[in-house]
Amino acid sequence: MSQIVVPTLGHRLQSIPRSWQRLTALCIAAPAGLIVLACIGMLTWSYATARIRAPHDEQHVLELQEKARTDAAFASELADEQAMQTEFRQQRAAKDARITLMLLLASTAFVASMKWLVSLRDRFVPLQSQFVQLRLPPRAPAAAGSRSSALRRPESGEVSAIDLSHVDRIVAEIGRSAEAAIPILQAIQSIYRYLPDDALHRVCELTEITPAQIAGTSSFYKQLRRTPIGEHFVRVCHGTACHVAGARQVTDELRRHLEIPEGADTDTQQRFTLDEVACLGCCSLAPVLMIDEHTSGRLTSLSAYDALQTFLTEQAS
Ligand code: FES
Repeated sequence: MSQIVVPTLGHRLQSIPRSWQRLTALCIAAPAGLIVLACIGMLTWSYATARIRAPHDEQHVLELQEKARTDAAFASELADEQAMQTEFRQQRAAKDARITLMLLLASTAFVASMKWLVSLRDRFVPLQSQFVQLRLPPRAPAAAGSRSSALRRPESGEVSAIDLSHVDRIVAEIGRSAEAAIPILQAIQSIYRYLPDDALHRVCELTEITPAQIAGTSSFYKQLRRTPIGEHFVRVCHGTACHVAGARQVTDELRRHLEIPEGADTDTQQRFTLDEVACLGCCSLAPVLMIDEHTSGRLTSLSAYDALQTFLTEQAS
């Protein structure tokens, strides 16, 4: 079923070239910043003049009150002076309110435009940034017909990591903007089953996506893999029911049998990738594991490896 996509303001902005977006943001930020500074200056000046004038006004009123006690002719002058001071304070308060409103509006415009500028900044992140740097090793020489050492077992639908035409096609279909990073990485992973370094190098060459952005995105989303995946994917359920029924022992025993190194999830032959997942939805069979799309239940630490062997035997026959 086709999906109707309603273009949002974000989508429309993405279609505008970044240089224009940056220029627009600067054109808003610069005058807004100047207005903010001017408003702060005017409010400071208003406050300072009021503080300087207040003692003189009070003193003048006191003097008139003193004179009005002995001479009634000063009473009207006192009333005029008090009225004039009251009007001055009201005018000043109204003017300060207008300046404050202008300050709020200009501040909002300034902050929004600066955030916009910062969001456009990633292409300026230096490649040698000390803080967010993608550690891509130097690309291996792409000898014709050679295979990347990262893909020693390209069976099961995998393609050679040095066949970068897939990356070229993906970029041509999805786009070259920084916002296309996630769909591009997902598409690359759907082909190579992980994110090969050569493919990531190629993405950086072809698009506005920076190594820093790729490093951040690929480490943030758990489903994006930077290391090759095994030929078979083994998911051991660690939901509550399976955990209580011994999922930990099942996982540990499988790791031992498959000789998966400490800290890794795939054996050195890249035959099996072992993952711990949440409830698989068949708790009555706990503990449960899935080998590719095949489910086995009511396992023990001993029978888990047998289930794996049975699966492989069935696959071979
Ligand atoms: S907790 Fe393992 S299948 Fe539900």
